[in-house]
Amino acid sequence: MPEFTPTSKPRVIAIANQKGGVGKTTTTINLGTALTMRGKTVLIIDLDPQGNASTGLGMAPETRSLTTYDLLVENAAIADVSRETSVENLFLAPATTDLSSADIELMSNSRRVFRLRAALTQLNALPKRVDYVLVDCPPSLNLLTVNAMVAADSVLVPLQSEFFALEGLSQLLLSVREVRETANPKLRIEGIVLTMYDRRNNLSRQVEEDARENLGELVFKTIIPRNVRVSEAPSFAMPVLRYDPSSQGSQAYLGLADEILERHELVA
Ligand SMILES: Nc1ncnc2c1ncn2[C@@H]1O[C@H](COP(=O)(O)OP(=O)(O)OP(=O)(O)O)[C@@H](O)[C@H]1O
Ligand SMILES: [Mg+2]
Repeated sequence: MPEFTPTSKPRVIAIANQKGGVGKTTTTINLGTALTMRGKTVLIIDLDPQGNASTGLGMAPETRSLTTYDLLVENAAIADVSRETSVENLFLAPATTDLSSADIELMSNSRRVFRLRAALTQLNALPKRVDYVLVDCPPSLNLLTVNAMVAADSVLVPLQSEFFALEGLSQLLLSVREVRETANPKLRIEGIVLTMYDRRNNLSRQVEEDARENLGELVFKTIIPRNVRVSEAPSFAMPVLRYDPSSQGSQAYLGLADEILERHELVA
């Protein structure tokens, strides 16, 4: 029997939460790296003017010649904006602070929410076939995050295991619904991942209980623990899976990648 190899399209996952500092960028970098370790080719799109994903992957600001600003505002091609990183099979479309003016530049553009989706139609011009595109969103439900949601197959929400974690989640889910009803009917919630979890802390356990009770199956089984190696890695310009592969944080991100791959294989 001839082997059946599906020519599947890349899956686009927006990593979003309008709350700041909940682990969006950390999840983008380390989930992306974990997926490459499972044989996938991954493109990270830095859609945050803070450029944390770019810095965390070792791309110094002065070397970011073409950026996601050019992609959204200047019609630059995704293949020209994307760069190799030090992680094999991990590509990055970097961002600089320029990106913060994209919403003003695009104000009069009637197709402004479709800019990223349009750019991603040219993904086949990249040197390798991409399996996953992960979009690191800014801490806001602004035009950049909407662009990510319009371009995405799904939204992955990091939830910090702290007080007020669930606050704001309904607003986020409302935005997802709005995008689904207007520009992107196929948009799904990939899942909600608890981050910076501290097993010794009652509050962490309470947040987990609340999340599982209210959101059920949407909450990933995998939990990302609070782990100092995770927070140290970006200052060495590498994913924690490179900096300390055996750390709890690294192992958790591999677990998250496996859970996502398993779900996707079931659907496929
Ligand atoms: N599992 C973890 N253990 C310890 N520290 C973590 C962990 N995850 C993230 N951090 C740290 O928490 C801070 C915020 O994380 P991160 O930058 O990923 O959040 P963010 O949601 O992208 O923030 P922003 O909203 O500003 O973009 C960073 O200093 C990061 O190193
Ligand atoms: Mg971030």
